[in-house]
Amino acid sequence: TLPAKVRIVEVGPRDGLQNEKQVIPADTKVSLIRRLEAAGLKAIETTSFVSPKWVPQMGDNTEVLTRVLAEAAPGVDYPVLTPNMKGFEAALAAGAREVAVFGAASESFSQKNINCSIAESLERFRPVLEAAAAADVRVRGYVSCVAGCPYEGSVAPEAVAEVAGTLLDMGCYEVSLGDTIGSGNPASIQRMLEAVQRRVPVHQLAGHYHDTYGMAVANIHASLQAGVSVFDASVAGLGGCPYAAGASGNVATEDVVWLMNSLGVDTGIDLNALVDTAAWISSQLGREPASKVARALLAK
Ligand code: HMG
Ligand code: MG
Repeated sequence: TLPAKVRIVEVGPRDGLQNEKQVIPADTKVSLIRRLEAAGLKAIETTSFVSPKWVPQMGDNTEVLTRVLAEAAPGVDYPVLTPNMKGFEAALAAGAREVAVFGAASESFSQKNINCSIAESLERFRPVLEAAAAADVRVRGYVSCVAGCPYEGSVAPEAVAEVAGTLLDMGCYEVSLGDTIGSGNPASIQRMLEAVQRRVPVHQLAGHYHDTYGMAVANIHASLQAGVSVFDASVAGLGGCPYAAGASGNVATEDVVWLMNSLGVDTGIDLNALVDTAAWISSQLGREPASKVARALLAK
């Protein structure tokens, strides 16, 4: 049986926008987050405290987070990415109450993305988790390349389980499993989840699936059947990954909501308001929403 309800973590303002080449004003980012709140999203990944030399689009992190938190909606979490202590300290100074550390199950991706090995990355996360615990800040963990790596090809499910288990042991409240390049399919995702569940209880897992080959919705359905009840998604299917050439954005939030509505699984999200938000941000970026659900509903 499927879970009665799922939690959706909106990652559009971060994962969706981080790869955009055009300058997106902080006003637009804040406005996007306000619209997502109004549509019912309860977790909105707001920005990342990474090096502006590596990801220029997130260079306005302090301004965006400070403005968002100044008028925070009740009951909404605003996590931000923090790869190291420098990022964590800046996030804390801006008022963050939840952060995320992000590792990978593949050595080459770890090097390209955060400029260190998997083992080194975990050592950098350890003080972040300690400082976060002391400041009563929640920490989410990410594992990238759970179903394949842009540089190495296939990735062993056991490698994913090992990194996910270590993040949990360090104190992450949840581990989000990133199919960074969208190469997973329902069978490979289920095999990966089986291995990970031997280390991490399923209620502490989230699925973070990119839709490069159009498999993300199928992978979410397979994950639901395996007991996963938290999914990351990006409004209008925004995004890609700067360190994974050719990768599309995350699964569109409206595609996930449509799937859940059709399965009778509660999301707490207003689909019409979400689709209007998808149309709005896409027009700000000068394009049509990438998702089929937004296109179909907007054509009505
Ligand atoms: P590094 O160069 O190895 O770091 O970068 P360093 O400690 O040697 O410092 C070098 C310089 O960076 C110094 O400045 C530091 O102060 C500065 P300088 O003295 O040269 O002027 N620096 C920072 N500045 C701002 N914020 C910081 C920070 N840390 C150091 N936090 C680092 C290491 C991790 C910082 C770098 O590699 C980086 O920023 N990478 C970007 C990673 C990123 O944002 N990737 C995209 C997000 S992850 C993702 O999309 C996957 C996910 O969605 C899941 C999935 O789909 O799989 C989560
Ligand atoms: Mg991602």
